[in-house]
Amino acid sequence: MALDEYAANADIIGRAEINDLEAILSVSNTDVDEAIHVVQDNADAIFTWDYEKGARPALNKLYEKAKRAQWNGETDLPWDTDVDLEKNAALQRLQFAGMQADVAGTPLEHFTEDDFIKLSIESDNWTLSQFMHGEQGALICTAKIVETVPWIDAKYYASTQVMDEARHVEVFAKYLQEKQNGYYPINAHLKMLLDDIINDSRWDMTYLGMQIMVEGLALAAFGFMQQMTPDPLLKQLLRYVMSDEARHVAFGVLSLKEYYAELSHAELRERQEFAFEAAIRMRDRFLQQEVWERMGIKPADILPLVLQDEGRGMFQQMLFSKIVPNCKKLGLLDAGEGWLRTKFTEMGVIQFEDWQDTGEEYESLQATG
Ligand SMILES: [Fe+2]
Ligand SMILES: [Fe+2]
Repeated sequence: MALDEYAANADIIGRAEINDLEAILSVSNTDVDEAIHVVQDNADAIFTWDYEKGARPALNKLYEKAKRAQWNGETDLPWDTDVDLEKNAALQRLQFAGMQADVAGTPLEHFTEDDFIKLSIESDNWTLSQFMHGEQGALICTAKIVETVPWIDAKYYASTQVMDEARHVEVFAKYLQEKQNGYYPINAHLKMLLDDIINDSRWDMTYLGMQIMVEGLALAAFGFMQQMTPDPLLKQLLRYVMSDEARHVAFGVLSLKEYYAELSHAELRERQEFAFEAAIRMRDRFLQQEVWERMGIKPADILPLVLQDEGRGMFQQMLFSKIVPNCKKLGLLDAGEGWLRTKFTEMGVIQFEDWQDTGEEYESLQATG
C-alpha cells in the first residue's frame, strides 16, 4: 500500500509538525466548571446467541483470573496513613532539577526552593488527577465494550474490567480528596482523546484507544510512580491498580490480535492513524500546562525551557515502553510499508519495539489471590 494514502499530520492531529508548541497550547480546557460532560456514543449494542464459554481460551483464562483477583479499595488499603505531600513530590521535584542550571532570563530565574517544592506538589496532584479522569474514561469505555464486542468470552471479561475501573476511579478520587485536598480538571488533550475513543462506532477502536494506548501508557506511568513514591498508601494503591491494568492491556492485545489478522490494508491504515493520534494526544498532555498556569507562569514562556531538558524527554519516552511492543504484536507497526514505525521513530519511541508485550505479562503483576 502506498504511503501517500495515509492522511497528513494536519488531518490526523490538527497540525503539521508534531512539536508545534503554539498549536499544542492553543488547545485548552474551556469548560472547567461544567459538572457533567456529554459525548455522543455512536455504536451498536450487539447480542450474541453463541454462549459457548471458552471458545476463546485466552480470554476465558483472563476472565477466570479476574474473578479471583478482586480487591476492595475501602478495606484493603491503609487509609489511616499520614501522607506527607512534600516528601511524596520528591519524584516530581526531580523532573525540574535538570532545567535549573541555566534559568537566567527565564520565569524560573527568581524561583526559590519553596517555589520548586510547591510546583512539584502541584505537578504530583495534577498527575494523579489525570490518572483519575483517565480511569473514568476506562470505566465508560469498558462498559461500552460489554455492549459492542460480539464474543461472549470478551463480554464476560469486559464486565470484570468495568468493576475494576469503578474501583480505580474510587481509590484515586478518595486519595485526592482525603490526602491531597482536591484535584485538577481534566486536561484538554486527554479529554479530546477520550471523546474521540467514545465517539467511534467501531468496537475495536474502543479497545485500541483505551486498552492499548491509554492503559498501555498508564501501566508504564503507574509502574514508575509505584517504584518511586515513598508513600506506603500510594504504593499499595498503585500496586493493586497495576495488577488489574496488566490484565486490561492483555485483554486488548488478545482480542485485537485475532481481529486485526482479518482486516484489509485500508482498515489497518485507519487503526494505525488512530494509534498515532492517540500517542500524540497523550504526549501533548505531558506538558502539564494547567500546573504552570496555577503557578502564575504563562505556559508559552516556560515550556520551551522544559522541552530542552533531556532527562525529562527520556523519562517521557519510557512511558511508551508498553505501547510500542503491543502495537508491534498487533501488526500495526509494519502494516502499510511501516507507516506507524516511521511515526514512532519521529516521536523517539521506536526503541521499545522488542520489549516485552503485555499478552502474558499480567501473570507476573498479580497482587492478590
Ligand atoms: Fe484502571
Ligand atoms: Fe484499566
